[in-house]
Amino acid sequence: MTSLLSELSATAGAAFAAEGMPAELGMVQASDRPDLAQFQCNGALAAAKLAKANPRAIAERIAARLEASGLFEAVSIAGPGFINLKLKDAVLEGRLRRLAADPDSALPETGKGKRVILDFGGPNIAKPMHVGHLRSCIIGDSLQRLFRANGWSVVSDVHLGDWGLPMGQLISELQIRRPDLPYFDPSDRSPYPDESPVTMDDLERLYPEAASACKADPSRLEAAREATVELQAGRPGYRALWRHFHNVSAEGLTREFGSLGVVFDEWKGESDADAFIPEMIEKLKDDGLAAMDEGALIVRVAEPTDTAEMPPLILIKSDGAVNYATTDVATILERVREHDPDLILYVVDQRQHLHFEQVFRAARKGGLSGRARFEHIGYGTVNGKDGKPFKTRAGGVMKLYDLIAMATEEAMKRLAEQGLAAGYPEEERARVAKAVGLAAIKFADLCNNRVSSYVFDLERFTRFEGKTGPYLQYAAVRIKSILRRADAEGYGRAAPVIRSEEERRLALQLFAMSEALSGAEMKRAPNLICDFVFSLAQNFSRFYTEHHILSETDEDLRASRLGLCALTLKEIERALGLLGIDVPERM
Ligand code: ARG
Repeated sequence: MTSLLSELSATAGAAFAAEGMPAELGMVQASDRPDLAQFQCNGALAAAKLAKANPRAIAERIAARLEASGLFEAVSIAGPGFINLKLKDAVLEGRLRRLAADPDSALPETGKGKRVILDFGGPNIAKPMHVGHLRSCIIGDSLQRLFRANGWSVVSDVHLGDWGLPMGQLISELQIRRPDLPYFDPSDRSPYPDESPVTMDDLERLYPEAASACKADPSRLEAAREATVELQAGRPGYRALWRHFHNVSAEGLTREFGSLGVVFDEWKGESDADAFIPEMIEKLKDDGLAAMDEGALIVRVAEPTDTAEMPPLILIKSDGAVNYATTDVATILERVREHDPDLILYVVDQRQHLHFEQVFRAARKGGLSGRARFEHIGYGTVNGKDGKPFKTRAGGVMKLYDLIAMATEEAMKRLAEQGLAAGYPEEERARVAKAVGLAAIKFADLCNNRVSSYVFDLERFTRFEGKTGPYLQYAAVRIKSILRRADAEGYGRAAPVIRSEEERRLALQLFAMSEALSGAEMKRAPNLICDFVFSLAQNFSRFYTEHHILSETDEDLRASRLGLCALTLKEIERALGLLGIDVPERM
């Protein structure tokens, strides 16, 4: 079903065309003044400019045709030639009926026949996930859900950081501590043990120690570099050891992502690009793009129109190692070959913008990009109240796991304050608290424009009033409870009829879903979904306050209102689902 706005724009477009003017002028939008009109079309002003004619006169001709369409209760002209529109309730009711029969028919099919790959920022193995990874998870997950809903074929890839210097740092650190392990013997001692010599906890301890040793001591850094080069060159013991690091970390990361409710289609990483590096480099060399410079192999990506410095991308460092710029370019070759995507989105911290610009340019120059377009979906940082990136009280990095635990605890407090989930079995209350805590974190993250940073404030995020995740969850839970009680009473539901202004506004907001989703996709902006669902909940709340529902004695009216409740619930749940937020059955 075409969206309401598209239908209205087509109607107005036809009116302009019939008057010998471009149909594009018929674009209809929601009114800036909902108290005066539902929709407006400003095309007569642009038309008047084109034809050097009087805008009001044009508006009158268009208005006459719109009136004749039979869709409108009122068509009026305001100011210099704005056309204000109010739909007939019967038109809204017809659409409500169709929506009730097939709620998915209102989804915009913007992605039909198209494929997108979503790169989730590349959390590094051997390091616990921390608050810095939160945004990539939350924003990336919302985008993958949104693109899927809009009909795209989506491939999401966690894209682990598993192939650079940190790997060499770990290897050489472990060598100092456990020189006896077979992995360090220069000769091939395969098969190597199946059992990992380290646990995730070991890695979490080893990595920071290795990193600071390398900082303090140049010879340690040198050893780490050498180990990285040898790992990448395929030394069997190092590869076997690396495989353990990789598997142990992936297990930990799966748990972390799982606790956020985020899943990926692919668990690939930088290391998977290794096989594509030689071919990629050959291609860039053949095209005369890759050149030696002070012992390193580089690609110059600067363009004459650049206004800021654009350093070359380093393909092979002078020590022979590759870094994630190299693997990012090679991964493009891999992805284009495997999936032939229309689009690749990289959901990574805004501070990596230059890196991606270099990578995209190198891939395009080298003819590696197929038909894919690339976009860096950057985002700002999560800050503490001091305005600096969020830390633990002790000043360390905040682990994701601890963050979720904190949010759950705060949610538990809030539930108690509100008298919610009271008297539920312990297990259910814990489940509700976790869902509320996650909703608080996710909504607070997504409702901002993604490039701005925000202050992490659990006290505010977990409130049950205002524009928060818990408020919206509760709005949905309340409707569920109304519908449950109605079912228990044996009350039927029917296609909604519109009798009041609150019902009208609620219906109009339901029809705004389609544009919210297509707009959020186009701008890669989940905050538009947040705005949509918040308005929907507010409209519902007004409707709920002003009308009897369960207590309505007119049976038909009650059924109609219950029908409207059900449709609203469906859309709130859908929108929250796109934000990665679950709605408990009760609370
Ligand atoms: N793992 C890298 C880091 O932690 C980011 C990699 C960015 N590239 C990517 N394809 N996600 O800084």
